[in-house]
Amino acid sequence: MLQLSTCSRSTFLALPAGIRSLLKPQTLALGRRYRSEDTSRRPLIIDGRSYPTDAWTNIPPPILDHYGRKLHVQPNHPLSITRKLIESCFPEFQHHNALSGVVTVDQNFNSLGFAADHPGRSRTDTYYINKDTLLRTHTSAHEVDVFRSNTSNGYTIAADVYRRDAVDRTHYPAFHQMEGALTWDRNHFKTTDDFLHHLSSALANFKPPNVEVEDANPPFHPERNPPQEKHHSPEEAELVGAHLKRSLEHMVVTIFTEADKALQSSGLELTAEDKDPLKVRWVESFFPHTSPSWEMEVWWRGDWLEVLGCGVIEQPLLIRSDVPSRVGWAFGLGLERLAMLLFGIPDIRLFWSKDSRFLSQFDENKPIRRFQPFSKYPAAPRDVAFWLPKSGPVVAETPAATSTAPSPAGGKQTEPTLDTAPAFHENDLMEVVRSTAGDSVEDVTCIDNFKHPKTGRQSLCYRVTYRSLEKTLTNEEANSLHEQIRQELVTRFGVELR
Ligand code: DAH
Repeated sequence: MLQLSTCSRSTFLALPAGIRSLLKPQTLALGRRYRSEDTSRRPLIIDGRSYPTDAWTNIPPPILDHYGRKLHVQPNHPLSITRKLIESCFPEFQHHNALSGVVTVDQNFNSLGFAADHPGRSRTDTYYINKDTLLRTHTSAHEVDVFRSNTSNGYTIAADVYRRDAVDRTHYPAFHQMEGALTWDRNHFKTTDDFLHHLSSALANFKPPNVEVEDANPPFHPERNPPQEKHHSPEEAELVGAHLKRSLEHMVVTIFTEADKALQSSGLELTAEDKDPLKVRWVESFFPHTSPSWEMEVWWRGDWLEVLGCGVIEQPLLIRSDVPSRVGWAFGLGLERLAMLLFGIPDIRLFWSKDSRFLSQFDENKPIRRFQPFSKYPAAPRDVAFWLPKSGPVVAETPAATSTAPSPAGGKQTEPTLDTAPAFHENDLMEVVRSTAGDSVEDVTCIDNFKHPKTGRQSLCYRVTYRSLEKTLTNEEANSLHEQIRQELVTRFGVELR
């Protein structure tokens, strides 16, 4: 059974709504007069451009402070080093690293075939500039544009992406993704057989990857994850899928060999698991833009880790991109996750650090070395417990059917009214914490949740762990941040503190 804690964000976002709602932290109904994060309706200035705002706007200023840092191209930054390592696995590809993070709902969702009620579209998950425009939630937002430009068979895209999410050591609302795709133009071959022959010899040219691969190749779910029989012959689907798997196996071997070398030379005491040989396995997955889809997991230091999502590109997507004769595969991964493994970086907030004790440890011209943590400052945990207000409409997990989420292209989109009281979503609390305490918070966890048997009222308790990466927080500082968060919860959500 998949669990939220073991399910990466990308996987989670890609799951069908039904499955996702089983995994999602509860959404709680809360009777409040909804106050949007930005009610001022002043335009937002992003990268020097002005964007009108509306009732959809939900980007708090700290998020915009991260926009434009371009860590994935900052010289000697671990994210940039990781990106370059991946690019080196695809030397003939075109590498796109400067695409704007402001995209349309169309680019981010509709063009990729996201269902109208896909949870990723909701305002609880996505940062909207206005009802038509948002901060991209994934690099796939550029797929159609890049396919349409039709300037190369293969490409990678690396970029900053934004999602409202949990607060912990592996999640941050601004992070980086990288994706790649390879397509072949069937019109470049005289016959179908010529094309199949080309694919087979490309496959035969792969050296066997230096890794044990568990690929049971299970039958795929006939509805959720079928081969695209209408568009691809069985042989074509099989060969494109096999080419995808071999290409990505080679890529992870390159990355994890570097990680392994860094670990071996780190002077750390290695456990038996650290000496385990690398293993890879392929697991069925779901993405709106690929079918069939897989996830690659890698056995690393005693755990199976999800490393990437991928699949055979949905042919309707290539048709929409005006390259109907092309067929191919695509993959996407989170750069922070790989960089954390490669360098042994323990906390995702560190990537944004301007502290020279962090930045001076990375050199793109030298072999990868493990990060040496500078002294860890003490944690200051504080709990906040509150009753949710009694009344209020119950709002479904995916508010797409309500007035708070965008509809697909061409659909009628209703403006959310500020009288609507949407569900209290855990992500709203995360946003309050981030907006108030910023990078001084390491983790926010729900530690208690109960319903009073008589009154039916619901009480929640969250533990907020304060810990700066750069200094010791005094008691007074932690208390003051905590008090601000408590008051903000009352003002914004009408909760009753306990
Ligand atoms: N866009 C996906 C996400 O963020 C990741 C992904 C999966 C990208 C499969 C791809 C792909 O290009 O083929 O959840």
